[in-house]
Amino acid sequence: MMMSLKTAFLVSASAVLALEWSDGTGKLPALGWNSWNAYHCDINETRILDAANAIVKFGFKDAGYEYVNIDDCWSVKTGRDRRTQQLVPDPKRFPSGISGVANKIHALGLKIGIYSSAGTRTCAGYPASIGYESIDAATWAAWGIDYLKYDNCNVPSNWTDACNACVYNLNNPNNYVNGTCVNSGNYCPGGYDYTRSNSAKRYAIMRDALQAQNRTIQYALCSWGSAGVEQYGNATGNSWRMSDDIQDGFKYVTSILNMNSFNLNDVDFWGHPDADMLEVGNGGLSVAEERTHFAFWAAMKSPLLIGTNLYAASDEAKSILLNKYLLAFNQDNVYGAPAKPWKWGTNPDFTFNATNPAEFWSGESQQGTLVLMMNTLAVSRDMTANFGEIPSLDADGSYKVLDVWTGEDLGSITSSLTVKVASHDTAAFLFTSGLSQ
Ligand code: GAL
Repeated sequence: MMMSLKTAFLVSASAVLALEWSDGTGKLPALGWNSWNAYHCDINETRILDAANAIVKFGFKDAGYEYVNIDDCWSVKTGRDRRTQQLVPDPKRFPSGISGVANKIHALGLKIGIYSSAGTRTCAGYPASIGYESIDAATWAAWGIDYLKYDNCNVPSNWTDACNACVYNLNNPNNYVNGTCVNSGNYCPGGYDYTRSNSAKRYAIMRDALQAQNRTIQYALCSWGSAGVEQYGNATGNSWRMSDDIQDGFKYVTSILNMNSFNLNDVDFWGHPDADMLEVGNGGLSVAEERTHFAFWAAMKSPLLIGTNLYAASDEAKSILLNKYLLAFNQDNVYGAPAKPWKWGTNPDFTFNATNPAEFWSGESQQGTLVLMMNTLAVSRDMTANFGEIPSLDADGSYKVLDVWTGEDLGSITSSLTVKVASHDTAAFLFTSGLSQ
């Protein structure tokens, strides 16, 4: 499969250059599964193939999920093959090799992803790709790889950047107050051109190596929002991580959501800031919080990579991940823009706020206007969508309203809609005009 026309090219899409593959790969956010949040380093062939089978069995393939991505820790840790210089799959974890696993995943009608780092070692200390980009890209292409997640650990000293971007880190937030660096550090001056940085170059070398293969390999940058990646992420990869790692707790959801709410003008076809892999199903979020996490990741047009063992996940978690309206919004091939805040809510200033990000959002789609109202507070409260405040709605208009969580048709509603939203939950509606009048 997939043997012809595998070229990718750089084109000017709206204001920014974008990495486009001629078969359409990368136009829409990737949908799939990744091993890291579920298993971290504890991966093997059985777990990867179980995930692939679960994607088929539980209806995720039919819903559009297609990538099964192997994260860190898949190779022999001691080093490369001495003769070929290739990375070597760990024979204990992957007795069929990665190519054997790829064949089985392809036979299910799915695609397979692999992981490396633009450094000497991956984040877990396995051999990585800097200096070996062409060899590794060719190896992965020969194995049948369809997707690369490219991390940012262990950058050698001759490749470090001249100065750093100030990046908010939830676990170490003291250097970043209201969006400004307050500690001393070698921070780049305002207006710095990060497209000339060593980071931009490291990631572009792998892009070029992937493009030189006779195969589409979707390219996901994972430099955690560092080194001004928003300036070159769309031109270099199909998606780019905009934050440090998510973990299984609501403060990570609100923190990343807040950060990504400042990247929304970078999102369109072929350009996808990656809000990191999903934690839905892993137990650290309430059902309300899982709804919020998934609704916003879908609405921001982030890649949606399931990060749980689907055999162990609750039915509620699976049904959230399968929500057909939110998936359709994320994968809309007519409307490329994401949902955006129309009103901040609890923190009215629309400033950087890791616990109370913007609560009132809307976005256009073929299904109508998606309206989201998230309650970041600890208690339930009434939340109102005043139509006059929502960019695409008329203040006095009547709209047919559908509840995205239940599929219930709420009939025709005029001027405003008030609903009670539980703590940390998100109310989600689709508005269409004319249909019920
Ligand atoms: C991190 C990355 C995670 C995961 C991990 C593997 O840098 O952000 O998503 O890939 O490395 O070690």
